[in-house]
Amino acid sequence: MKRTRNIMVAVAMAATLSLAACGSDDGAGDGGSSEGKIGVILPDTKSSVRWESADRPALEAAFEDADVEYTIQNAEGDAEKMATIADGMIADGVTVLAIVNLDSDSGAAIQEKAAAQGVKTIDYDRLTLGGSADYYVSFDNTVVGELQGEGLAQCLGDTPANVIYLNGSPTDNNATLFSAGAHSKLDPIAAYTQVGEQAVPDWDNEQAVTIFEQLYTQAGGDVQGVYAANDGLAGSVISILEKNGQAGQVPVTGQDATVEGLQNILAGTQCMTVYKSAKLEAGALADTAIALVKGEDAETTGTTEDATGDRDVPSVLLTPESITKDNVKSVVDDGGVKAEDVCTGDFAALCEAAGIS
Ligand code: BGC
Repeated sequence: MKRTRNIMVAVAMAATLSLAACGSDDGAGDGGSSEGKIGVILPDTKSSVRWESADRPALEAAFEDADVEYTIQNAEGDAEKMATIADGMIADGVTVLAIVNLDSDSGAAIQEKAAAQGVKTIDYDRLTLGGSADYYVSFDNTVVGELQGEGLAQCLGDTPANVIYLNGSPTDNNATLFSAGAHSKLDPIAAYTQVGEQAVPDWDNEQAVTIFEQLYTQAGGDVQGVYAANDGLAGSVISILEKNGQAGQVPVTGQDATVEGLQNILAGTQCMTVYKSAKLEAGALADTAIALVKGEDAETTGTTEDATGDRDVPSVLLTPESITKDNVKSVVDDGGVKAEDVCTGDFAALCEAAGIS
């Protein structure tokens, strides 16, 4: 009797494990009605939690819905690994390959190799400068930066303020656009003085702590506002402000509407974030990839200039949304994060006050 039960448990466990294996690394959706297969390579797990916590599940849902065959893998921040994954996917019959590049040169090399084998490519979220992607699917990243700049200005008001800029990775074209967008809104405001600016290699949150602490010290701690390019970097900044008794006094921007970012907004240590619905972006990628699988043209919203490659890339660019304490709830309502993830421990009361349940 006991043995039978143990065997049954073992069988149930094996079933769970094999299901889990399917759903994780090689999300090999076995929808099978279509002619080709779509491969997506995500960049890493550290530059933002978004890739695994928001993009992967949204992509899986979009591909499952469309009943297409797909595989999703993560390059873990390693450009060589991304190239190896791409080779493997193409050998496995992927006919449309979407990448979030780790830098433009390695992305362009992957796309060139894919094209030589008749595989269509898509830039997901980050444009590969000098690349050959057939399409680019993203948000309007200049607008993301503009929202960040406007958000910081709103939190600062018109009293004089010294501002530090902590930009994203120098190898990410988006980071350039975010920073340019923010500067376009903040530089014309005479009350603000830039007292430091630095890019964070690979968006590395740990390096960001050191970099920001140096900038903060160089400015003699006389800092009233911080532009941080995403929620992870904002978290690094807030840790140093906390150490100096300034968290909550100095507004900090962010991006990605992560659980951590939204909690910081509710707690008052972060001024704003930018919500870029993974459902929308993954849906747009799925639509584009499915059109390519079928040998059709995809619908676009316009083109994006790649100055390095001297070409205009057909693009789907979505509209980002600014989030402050007043509308954190809208991210929860849209399914961007779960209330139960944001409203833990001390945040429960803050959630209640913000109408989130
Ligand atoms: C994305 C951001 C993300 C950052 C770090 C950017 O290219 O657009 O959403 O926070 O990369 O992964």
